Amino acid sequence: MNSVIMITQFFFTLVIGMYFFTKLRNEKSDSETLANNSKKEAEHLNCMRHIHLSEPVTETARPKNVNEIIGQDDGIRAIKAALCGPDPQHILIYGPAGVGKTAAARVALECAKKSNGTPFSKNAKFIETDATIMRYDERSIADPLIGSVHDPIYQGAGAYGVAGVPQVKEGAVSKAHGGVLFIDEIGELQTCQINKLLKVLEDRKVMFESAYYSEENKKIPTYIHDVFKNGIPADFRLIGATTRKPEEIPEAVRSRCVEIYFNPLTRDNIEKIIYGAAERIKINIEQNAVEMIARYAKNGRDAVKILQMAKNIIFLDNRRNVTLDDIAWILKTCHYTNGYISSDEKIIDISVIKPK
Ligand SMILES: Nc1ncnc2c1ncn2[C@@H]1O[C@H](COP(=O)(O)OP(=O)(O)O)[C@@H](O)[C@H]1O
Ligand SMILES: [Mg+2]
Repeated sequence: MNSVIMITQFFFTLVIGMYFFTKLRNEKSDSETLANNSKKEAEHLNCMRHIHLSEPVTETARPKNVNEIIGQDDGIRAIKAALCGPDPQHILIYGPAGVGKTAAARVALECAKKSNGTPFSKNAKFIETDATIMRYDERSIADPLIGSVHDPIYQGAGAYGVAGVPQVKEGAVSKAHGGVLFIDEIGELQTCQINKLLKVLEDRKVMFESAYYSEENKKIPTYIHDVFKNGIPADFRLIGATTRKPEEIPEAVRSRCVEIYFNPLTRDNIEKIIYGAAERIKINIEQNAVEMIARYAKNGRDAVKILQMAKNIIFLDNRRNVTLDDIAWILKTCHYTNGYISSDEKIIDISVIKPK
């Protein structure tokens, strides 16, 4: 009898031993695979970080302060009047493409920080978003503009998921707290996004809701209770830029903002932009070549783009100066039509200029 019990005991000990041995071995091989994969991925990421293309000229030539923005004197003055001083306001900038709206928005906060009585601190943040790529999810699982609640059901086996704790992810409006939120192409926001944004502008904080939140749940950390009770602060000034007409922007947004209009650039403005950009990217350009670009470029971005191509042409030819012929060849090859040539002016026929 005893020997039967001993054999049974031995059998079960063996089975249990085998079970734990296999489990341990599998766990070890899983963690080894994970470690190997993560090492490979880390090396790949590191390699990627060492590869850099040159900075686009549009970036190198981007105005670094408000004084470098050409041809928008009234617009810049209006931005200063709206944003600088003790009582900054929300701003909407209208204007055609490539005339300096984004450039002006990006330098506006730094200008405001230097003004007397400004409420912006030295560390106030400038948060830039683009409405054309702002994902909106009707179930509010992800909302990069306003913020969202990550419910436990979406957190899977993580610590928060297992404990049934909803996690709050702050959006751009809260990241911009105390500073400026710049929404480029604001005219492309969806109506529901605009309505939520208006509520934040009104309340200066974002409130969250979740079916998984309970005041009584002791597993929920104190700061999450605080967030659900009091919201996350979102006190910022909005700068929106758009190529759309004012009539296309919801009245509720317009009425809360100072509306500022940027002009199409004149030929003189574009010439100045080209000289400035040429200096920053360190190339020589003949005066008649500058004049030629200004005749054909529809805006500042266009002008800088032509200049970038000219820079490459002289580099490849091992020459020092950008000439009229270089520009004429670019304009002809890239099918530029005359942007700002008035009807009474003698038009240079670029089709007769031979490529180099
Ligand atoms: N008014 C301007 N003054 C100086 N540079 C300008 C101006 N407008 C455009 N540019 C040049 O063109 C580029 C694109 O301008 P951007 O501000 O992005 O135009 P927008 O936002 O109006 O479409 C800038 O980086 C700059 O090099
Ligand atoms: Mg822009």
